[in-house]
Amino acid sequence: MIIRVFPVFLILPIISQCSKILVLFPYASKSHTILGEALVKSLANSGHNVTFITPYKTNLQTKNGTYRLIYLDNVIEYHEKQQMNLFDFGNTPPVITLFVMNGLGNEVTDLTFAHPNVQKLLNDKHEKFDAVIVEQFVNDAMKYFAYHFNAPLVSFSTVGANAWVNPLVGNPAPPSFVPDVFLSYSSRMSFVERLKNTLFSVISELNRHLIFFPAQNRILHKYYPDAPDLKDLLYNNSLFLLNSHVSTHSPVPLLPNMIDIGGFHVKPAKTLPKDLKDFIEGAKHGVIYFSMGSNIRSKDFPEKMRTNLLNVLKSLKQRVIWKFEDENLPGKPDNVLISKWLPQNDILGQQNVKLFITHGGLLSTTETIYHGVPVLTIPIFGDQKMNAAQMVLHGFAQSISFEVLNYENKIRNALNEVLTNPKYAGIAKQRSKIMHDQPFKPMDSAIFWIEYVIRHKGASHLRIAGLDLAWYQYLSLDVYVFVSSVSILVALILVKLCKMICCKKTKSKTDKVKKNK
Ligand SMILES: *[C@@H]1O[C@H](CO)[C@@H](O)[C@H](O)[C@H]1NC(C)=O
Ligand SMILES: *[C@@H]1O[C@H](CO)[C@@H](O)[C@H](O)[C@H]1NC(C)=O
Ligand SMILES: *[C@@H]1O[C@H](CO)[C@@H](O)[C@H](O)[C@H]1NC(C)=O
Repeated sequence: MIIRVFPVFLILPIISQCSKILVLFPYASKSHTILGEALVKSLANSGHNVTFITPYKTNLQTKNGTYRLIYLDNVIEYHEKQQMNLFDFGNTPPVITLFVMNGLGNEVTDLTFAHPNVQKLLNDKHEKFDAVIVEQFVNDAMKYFAYHFNAPLVSFSTVGANAWVNPLVGNPAPPSFVPDVFLSYSSRMSFVERLKNTLFSVISELNRHLIFFPAQNRILHKYYPDAPDLKDLLYNNSLFLLNSHVSTHSPVPLLPNMIDIGGFHVKPAKTLPKDLKDFIEGAKHGVIYFSMGSNIRSKDFPEKMRTNLLNVLKSLKQRVIWKFEDENLPGKPDNVLISKWLPQNDILGQQNVKLFITHGGLLSTTETIYHGVPVLTIPIFGDQKMNAAQMVLHGFAQSISFEVLNYENKIRNALNEVLTNPKYAGIAKQRSKIMHDQPFKPMDSAIFWIEYVIRHKGASHLRIAGLDLAWYQYLSLDVYVFVSSVSILVALILVKLCKMICCKKTKSKTDKVKKNK
């Protein structure tokens, strides 16, 4: 009997219904798309019928289920026209970054809604979806897709839980220990850092409510005049998938419908092409991998900095693989191999790779932790400075600012510190163990929770009551004001009473004195 029951029990969780899922990753950014593609591929492989809206003409090889591409042609061209040297963006004050992000988000939102392929999808009366997954990245009007198809909304945050995410689900994020992604702090902040973090979080919230959301609402109503007001769509997320994990970030409060899936896109390293394999295996003293990610180009380093970097790399006994976007690099030393494109994950997975020089983007940070490789970061913009601060706090990284590249000896010192002090490699290995020690693989967790909200028709039971409160009620400000008012009132009354009693006493005393005269 038991033997009969057991197999059924085992099979049950595996039989999942084929659902129709719409996935929207509208940004023409390689790193965002890597995450979107990994998710789509895995959903299709789990047997679902997935429709993927993206500006990249990808052809995902899926083993199972079906996959349909809604291609946003011309979005990439549009962005490439505006390509700038991202090093110039590095010193933008964080408050200005907020406005730059508003502009970027509004453009991408408008382009997406206006796109004929998207219009065709939205206007097709026969289209139905069981869930809509939208990348959450300054594009809140796109939550309309879920409303339009009357399907649960799953938001995916490329940068983990942050100020764009937390208020939408009512997640507490005290600025005393949750740093904003645009600042350069870790979770352990000094008084001045906490002060700046708190003020910035207020400015950032005001920007969203007074400037950004109204603009998004206007774009939405330009295309769909009958759509509900954006504020009715904003807070209707069934699930938030977060590209973060306690191995990459410091622990923060997370509600039950916020699921950490950081590391979900990383796979064990595959065999390398022969030239790279030989280069790495032939390195007696190990290899350093150097990449500034997919958006920042190493070839844009100012001449002086590039020369400094080359001088330092030349003097090392290690070999160096550098993602460099030009055919030739004048003065390239023999121990340096350059290439426009490199299989980063497969390189980081090699035993002989001893150090990663990185801009500290979240994908690179996650991949280096996955493989346990210590780091020297040169953070430039966005969340990179925060990621760098976090890696330094955890103890497996040194971080140097962009300006430090003007000083050869400072680059050399930082590099040598990570290469020669075994502490860095040891902690990197520990971090890697933390990432791998989980009850489910992060991708399985993502699929489980997406299917969960489909099964539970939006899983409204996970929605916290705090979302239905006004902001001052959520923060208990009304209670504090009430309690302080009553306390002050009581204090005033007491003071008054005291005065009255004292006055009476002195009065009767003086009266007595007068009488005695
Ligand atoms: C393919 O999808 C079905 C559900 O439709 C599932 O039962 C099966 O395990 C999937 N196969 C693979 C190889 O993932
Ligand atoms: C998947 O969905 C698309 C779009 O609705 C539909 O045309 C197609 O027939 C579906 N495929 C399967 C196998 O259900
Ligand atoms: C909010 O989500 C639920 C569950 O998916 C759905 O039934 C409801 O219509 C949505 N409301 C709005 C305003 O989008």
